[in-house]
Amino acid sequence: MSRPKIIVTRKLPEAVEARLRQDYQSELNESDKIYAQEEVIARAANADALLVTVTDNIDKGLIDKLPTSIRMIATFSAGYDHIDIPAATSRNIIVSNTPDVLTNATADIALLLILGAARGAGTGEATMRQATWANWAPTGYLGQDVTGKRLGILGMGRIGRAVAKRARAFDMEIHYHNRTQLSSNIEQGAHFHDRLEELFKTSDFLSLHAASTNETKNIINERSIEMLPKGAVIINTARGDLVDDDALIAALQTGRISAAGLDVYKGEPNPDPRYKDLPNTFLLPHLGSATLETRNAMGFCALDNLDAFFAGKPLPNLVVNRQTFAR
Ligand code: DGY
Repeated sequence: MSRPKIIVTRKLPEAVEARLRQDYQSELNESDKIYAQEEVIARAANADALLVTVTDNIDKGLIDKLPTSIRMIATFSAGYDHIDIPAATSRNIIVSNTPDVLTNATADIALLLILGAARGAGTGEATMRQATWANWAPTGYLGQDVTGKRLGILGMGRIGRAVAKRARAFDMEIHYHNRTQLSSNIEQGAHFHDRLEELFKTSDFLSLHAASTNETKNIINERSIEMLPKGAVIINTARGDLVDDDALIAALQTGRISAAGLDVYKGEPNPDPRYKDLPNTFLLPHLGSATLETRNAMGFCALDNLDAFFAGKPLPNLVVNRQTFAR
């Protein structure tokens, strides 16, 4: 029996590509050049599945042009806002994602952003690189403590809970908003806010852990920023879509928001250039899941889903619908 043909749209870690070569008739992307939509469609001819990433825009236009041989799209990501799920479903194309395996790596980065934003680590690092450090000064490079501060978590799914666990070690007080309240053994003393407004009012630090949906687009806007305590800090490891850049940049410029730690942006890889000119931002290039261990695990997870599909078994990570506050 011939092995299923998989089109892989980006270069993947070596161990993942080795398994792809061994188990599938796989078409790998050695150069890692991002394919235009027409190229994905052309390559999909006579293939059985696509293995895509967050840099592929798998919208309805693309899905409608896929050959009927394509029966599954596995995304090498937890998020799937880059895939039009209803369009895939209407073509009987099954979609899988890679949740769980990136929880710890992403939560680590959220903590790095919390600390980096609170302590002005971006400015400090730039000073050292530019060799412009004048001297130690009692009033130089003053940030703010995280100890005892209220951390609001918007979306208490796996990643939100892993962030809470880490933040507790820094003596932060955890608050959260979620579709449903968690059981007390999972909450571990975190304060649930049924209304988003209440979470905003209570968050000295606000960390975003919601998927990008129509409901969450620009959830950080002029109005929500006004509700936050004066000088609050905003952290985003979820999706750039959640933030109205004009509103956040204006608030950072006036100090209404004292700092922001960002790993994700609208228009990646070309975020609003004003962020880089602000002294109170701490910026990373979407590297929440970027460790070799985690990227291997994401690849193996995508392959486990493909294996299950071609063996006629239930998928471990079938994407069924869009969930707003749980990733
Ligand atoms: C995801 O998996 O959705 C991340 O954004 C990529 O690390």
